[in-house]
Amino acid sequence: MNTMSEKVKSLIDKLAAEKSLSKEEWLAVFGGWDEDDRAYAAGKAREISLGVFGNKVYIRGIVEFSNVCKNDCYYCGIRCSNTNAQRYRLSDGEILECCAEGYEYGFRTFVLQSGEDYAVYHPERMAGIVRSIKKAHPDCAVTLSLGELERDALKLLKDAGADRYLLRHETANKEHYSKLHPENMSFAHRMGCLRTLKELGYQTGAGMMVGSPYQTDECLADDMLFIEEFGPQMIGIGPFLPHKDTPFRDKPKGSYELTLFLLSLCRIMLPRVLLPATTALGTIRPDGREQGILSGANVIMPNLSPTAVRKKYMLYDGKICTEDSSDECRNCISARMKRIGYEVVVARGDYV
Ligand code: 5AD
Ligand code: FES
Repeated sequence: MNTMSEKVKSLIDKLAAEKSLSKEEWLAVFGGWDEDDRAYAAGKAREISLGVFGNKVYIRGIVEFSNVCKNDCYYCGIRCSNTNAQRYRLSDGEILECCAEGYEYGFRTFVLQSGEDYAVYHPERMAGIVRSIKKAHPDCAVTLSLGELERDALKLLKDAGADRYLLRHETANKEHYSKLHPENMSFAHRMGCLRTLKELGYQTGAGMMVGSPYQTDECLADDMLFIEEFGPQMIGIGPFLPHKDTPFRDKPKGSYELTLFLLSLCRIMLPRVLLPATTALGTIRPDGREQGILSGANVIMPNLSPTAVRKKYMLYDGKICTEDSSDECRNCISARMKRIGYEVVVARGDYV
């Protein structure tokens, strides 16, 4: 075994003991790791998640209720400039029906996700939807993933009963952020929004793509330092995957192995964090989500959207589950977890 690898293992040990590394140390990890280090981190991460959660996996049903977006992120298939995207919007009743169906299948968290479509799904309307879901399913958590909103809107939604909010920071490096987004999108505003979410008492999810164009080891080091400092309750991490109708169509996809490694490092740093094995991870590898769980993840977010719209919510090419129905995804996940010795639980699965 080479000395570089020994160095990375000792840094993984240090992370496990101190829950913190310096920027230089993170750079040494990202600059020097190999498969053996990844397996080492995965073993530690898995031990930690078994200790905190046992062999239980939380499921969240995701309802992709609108693919209309005012933003133009260079990586995303539903960016406003993509005229090939067939746009759709679900009615309030359709959203509620997805949740009712999900409840039958044992989901106790509903994630409402959309593009930034505030003109139509304005905060008052969303608050009404949240109240209706909470009324129909008082034992369920509602997670919102609507993009950047101002404090008053986020407060209104919190008061309506929303429990959690997912807003990936995408990259904690300002220069990198400006290479992924057009000029009218602000790194400071996104970070400010994340801080507001926490202040308002949301269980807050941050996260990033792995291998997004122009990402360097320094960007990843900045991501890990940001995650340590911010202390999110959830972290969404998946590989970047190109979409044919975006400016990044010819960019290479992110590394599957590096994604698993980052999941393990996050678990080691934040033992109780809610960490999904993402759909993008399941897209880059057929057993990606299983391997994510075995690397320290503890959440899976199957799709609850009506099958008719699934193909239209294409953030990247090849997205899985677009031909399937909600019960098929639900059963598929149970079987996949069972095969690796894990079990899906019927529970809200709050951060504790
Ligand atoms: N590849 C992988 N992930 C993507 N996302 C958006 N576009 C892509 C892509 N091309 C992720 C972003 C966003 C989340 C909803 O999906 O991180 O926050
Ligand atoms: Fe959708 Fe497997 S999770 S088909």
